[in-house]
Amino acid sequence: MERRSFIKEAGKLGGSGLLVAAFPWLYSCTSEAQKEIATQKARLGVIGTGSRGMYHLNHLLNMPNVEVVALCDNYAPHLAEAAALFPKAKTFADYTELLALPEVDGVIVVTPLSEHAHITIDALKAGKHTFCEKSMALTLDGCLKMYQSYQESGKVLYIGQQRLFDPKYLKAIEMIHSGMIGNITGIRSYWFRNNDWRRPLDNPSLECKINWRLYREYSGGLMTELAAHQLQVGNWALKMIPESVTGFGDIVYWKDSRDVYDSVSLVYRYGNGVNMSYESIISNKFNGLEEQILGHKGTLELEKGIYYFEEAKPAPAILQLINQIEHKIFDNVSFAGPSWVPETASKNKGEYVMDKVSQTDGASSVGFLNDGSIELMDAFCYAVITGKRAENLVEEAYYSSVLALLGLQAMDEQRVVKFPEQYKIPYLNFS
Ligand SMILES: NC(=O)c1ccc[n+]([C@@H]2O[C@H](COP(=O)([O-])OP(=O)(O)OC[C@H]3O[C@@H](n4cnc5c(N)ncnc54)[C@H](O)[C@@H]3O)[C@@H](O)[C@H]2O)c1
Repeated sequence: MERRSFIKEAGKLGGSGLLVAAFPWLYSCTSEAQKEIATQKARLGVIGTGSRGMYHLNHLLNMPNVEVVALCDNYAPHLAEAAALFPKAKTFADYTELLALPEVDGVIVVTPLSEHAHITIDALKAGKHTFCEKSMALTLDGCLKMYQSYQESGKVLYIGQQRLFDPKYLKAIEMIHSGMIGNITGIRSYWFRNNDWRRPLDNPSLECKINWRLYREYSGGLMTELAAHQLQVGNWALKMIPESVTGFGDIVYWKDSRDVYDSVSLVYRYGNGVNMSYESIISNKFNGLEEQILGHKGTLELEKGIYYFEEAKPAPAILQLINQIEHKIFDNVSFAGPSWVPETASKNKGEYVMDKVSQTDGASSVGFLNDGSIELMDAFCYAVITGKRAENLVEEAYYSSVLALLGLQAMDEQRVVKFPEQYKIPYLNFS
């Protein structure tokens, strides 16, 4: 989506000024910001040129304010693929050599999760503005150290939480915060897929290198790969972080060499009594993916970009008439049966939050088009050129990463885990 139509679409309620006031990290998308950098370029180095790295590189190729000057990957076939796209870029197998280049202003870290924290911290220490893919780190300490390095460095840090730049999410959160669905009384998030999450191997010795997502040494599995995107939405809607979490996880179907759960089911509990349920299974895709925010007046499904009111609009007059006639006939006949009406799911089809809503089936491990990822990268490039930080962005990402890890801990230890005080950081949006 063009930047101008993005701001227009996302800002329909209040125009871009109000939108930026509510979501300050969007400033970089405004025409003022783009004028500011019109003649400048962000000189970037990309570390990790696997599938998501190539997704970003293909977009960077078309961004006017970007020059990709260096590439790094410690797996030669992936590095060669990226180098073919940017033949003038310097190439490295060792990321520290890339960080030593004075011509690199910003780096993009797109490695497996276990490599995020130390590369990001080294990059910030080397004076580079840094974008790191979600989630932040494999451990709670890793997340906190990344955050502290960001604070100490004075540099910019972005994390790949693209829902923060996705117009349908922005619009929906704006609606929720305006009170449209009333008080938030529950949150249901889930991601269901049916595939083994494996990538093909040229050689079995590459199993952990290529299929790192399946092993605890490199990945938190469904929690850090999928849930981290969705847990952020609950906090964003409620302007709070949960106080505790509990749940169960297991390997139910894909009983191969993996040691990450293929099925998780958790409850995050907020201080006001609201529960956020989270479920993910990768052996059944019936339910797809969704984040549902439930209010006493209505429901928002953010992934589909649809809202529903509890009381549906009145039916057309002709239907009402038929209904009344049917009632007159049947209300006079006595039926035996239950004296209560069973609760059934709403048949209300809802309304889209905006004209153009881009939807996904949730099956890809690389990412999706039109989901805010390009705008997020665009915003990072603006930040690299100007050195301006985006308020609240790192904090949103930090809390979603920490919640994913706390959920994992709760399932591993089969207990209720309280949010540890030492991992709380200041966040302006929380009430
Ligand atoms: N935001 C999103 O929607 C989204 C989507 C997909 C992936 N991701 C994230 O992107 C990251 C990468 O995922 P992927 O699917 O591209 O993985 P991948 O395995 O396809 O690519 C990772 C690359 O990093 C390289 N690498 C590993 N260690 C390195 C090191 N020390 N130095 C240099 N290169 C190194 C590997 O050789 C590989 O080429 C993960 O954190 C993942 O969660 C985010």
